Amino acid sequence: MTSLDIRVQQVSHRYAATHALQNIDLHIQPGEFVSLVGVSGCGKSTLMRLIAGLQTPTQGIIWLDGQPPEAARAAKQIGWMAQQAALLPWRTVLENVTLAQKINRQIGKNDTSSPEDLLKMVGLTEFADAYPLTLSGGMQQRAALARTLATGAAVWLMDEPFAALDELTRELLAGELLHLWHQFRPTVLWITHNLHEAIRLSDRVVVLTPRPGTIAGKLTVPLPRPRDDTSMEFQELLRQARALLRRERVHDQ
Ligand SMILES: Nc1ncnc2c1ncn2[C@@H]1O[C@H](COP(=O)(O)OP(=O)(O)O)[C@@H](O)[C@H]1O
Ligand SMILES: [Mg+2]
Repeated sequence: MTSLDIRVQQVSHRYAATHALQNIDLHIQPGEFVSLVGVSGCGKSTLMRLIAGLQTPTQGIIWLDGQPPEAARAAKQIGWMAQQAALLPWRTVLENVTLAQKINRQIGKNDTSSPEDLLKMVGLTEFADAYPLTLSGGMQQRAALARTLATGAAVWLMDEPFAALDELTRELLAGELLHLWHQFRPTVLWITHNLHEAIRLSDRVVVLTPRPGTIAGKLTVPLPRPRDDTSMEFQELLRQARALLRRERVHDQ
């Protein structure tokens, strides 16, 4: 897998009367893990859909490895994960993963690992023949992760994929996600409204203001992983991120 850079230049987006995003400038390095945080409705999902080429910005431009997002999408370079695992319910877990690889083969992409290996990586070997809806939410997201791996996508766009899970499962899966990111090194854009999670996981945290979403600030997290959230450095970053979020909320009133 080769990872891509993402370049967002002066992007604004409107839905009829709603001004969702304004003047977003963001450059994400190949293989970088960046979190996007901000209050509900500030345009996080919109920005992700624009990067995925599912919508076109009303202003500005986006490049993935120097190409328009639509081209990266057509080349199956974009993996997408959201709160609801996008699995075919009438196919088993193994079939879901196999199918994702088959589609890749059709466009001439090489497989890296077998579907069985991918299921092993996400801890689902015993559930290969299960149907997605018979699994817990956490296991469904594991299957979705294996599916994303099977696509060989160089960019993972993750819109709060673990938000519906209980706290413990969520932390466990986030740890495993980091492990997979180390192994495959995709470029990751991770949406969360949980600052602690953002600092625990990412290389950089980008904080958005309330609508219209603009960039309130970008924080670099220079701490080695796994991160000790009781350390002074971690707590200081958390304080800075909170201040960015809070300041903008006060301004909004
Ligand atoms: N398809 C749409 N049509 C009209 N308004 C939308 C649409 N999608 C999102 N919005 C509005 O744009 C704003 C940003 O939404 P969204 O990107 O979903 O924010 P977030 O993901 O940060 O919660 C919200 O006010 C939302 O209601
Ligand atoms: Mg959203």
